[in-house]
Amino acid sequence: MLPSDVVLSKVRPEALRAPESGIVELVNAGRDREDLIPLWVGEGELPTPALIYRDAIKSLEEGETFYTYQRGLPVLRHALAQYHSDLYGRPFDSERFFVTGSGMHAILMALQATVSAGESILVPSPVWPNLAACAGIAGVEPIAVPMQFSEGKWTLDIQRLKDALTPHTRALFINSPCNPTGWVATVEQLAELRSFALEHGLWVIADEVYGRFVYDGATRAPSFYDVAEDDDPILYVNTFSKNWAMTGWRIGWLSCPKGMGQVVENLVQYSTSGTAAFMQRAALGALQNGNEFLQHQVMRAGKARALLLEVLGSHSRIRLSRPDGAFYLFFSIDGITNSREAAFKILHETGVGLAPGTAFGEGGKPFFRLCFARDMDQLNDASRLLCRWIGD
Ligand SMILES: Cc1ncc(COP(=O)(O)O)c(C=O)c1O
Repeated sequence: MLPSDVVLSKVRPEALRAPESGIVELVNAGRDREDLIPLWVGEGELPTPALIYRDAIKSLEEGETFYTYQRGLPVLRHALAQYHSDLYGRPFDSERFFVTGSGMHAILMALQATVSAGESILVPSPVWPNLAACAGIAGVEPIAVPMQFSEGKWTLDIQRLKDALTPHTRALFINSPCNPTGWVATVEQLAELRSFALEHGLWVIADEVYGRFVYDGATRAPSFYDVAEDDDPILYVNTFSKNWAMTGWRIGWLSCPKGMGQVVENLVQYSTSGTAAFMQRAALGALQNGNEFLQHQVMRAGKARALLLEVLGSHSRIRLSRPDGAFYLFFSIDGITNSREAAFKILHETGVGLAPGTAFGEGGKPFFRLCFARDMDQLNDASRLLCRWIGD
């Protein structure tokens, strides 16, 4: 055995089995291309605005470089409560909000708080793959429940979710608006999912990180907050990454029912031991000064979406759904069944970086995901190159 094999043979099987991200694999293969048009990851090209980050600089200059509150700076938790009150039109207690080291960290803690090794979580699929991988590492079984794609629309059959329930199921993971499909749950569906969870004693992990990216003129997507009581067993995952172009900062939040404070504090203590104070100052800046920027991003994504629906939507070999939310176009190309292989080809032959649908679990294989929270010229070029690559 090679020394590295000896080392690997001692690694926990769950960690060893964790899949390489099917998105990162593409990025690693193409990130240095000079003519690259990177539409593969979930971020735009706009940097975080100064209005948001300037208090982070001030914080560092003033020496705010020590250990800080495990639950988050009180001022930021209050600002989160205010942000939710403004958005949902009712009061929120700041005690329910916990600052996390990203949306991903919020997902990790939500899982750690609710599902034990040997138990399972239901996950409508295709979906952003990190939840399933994170569950797998913890010894939790993610059960994929396929969504349906027909007549240009993704739908979730809640009965299929109910049928997938086992005695070991502890939670449902609902990502609406959905990455990658753009599916958005209606208030009625959220109410039905809530009743199902309550009836069977399940937790809901509600990933609403794209809740502000909707294109029908509303300021937000329907949310579990619209149908749930404050004490319901629902953990809400959110992030500063998308709304305020802060993907590189790694800061998000978790919102929990009353009584979870010490549990979440401990989970923070034993994972990151807190989010750096200067980053929390930028997060506060986002909530206090970032509304105009957020609206600009949504408006820009809406225009990009319209362009892509027109150009790619009129190509005879492209099948797509009109995304009601999030900022991804999820499409297939007639004749292509293995998107991983094709995404590498497209990258090498055109410089357009797409995420292969294979990365998004069951049901994703023939699809490609394209992030449209980006510059219109880039998207114009990318659509032209793609249409030329596909041919007639
Ligand atoms: C559905 C979903 N949830 C959570 C996240 C996590 O966001 P972050 O870790 O960047 O805060 C992402 C990021 O792409 C996402 O798409």
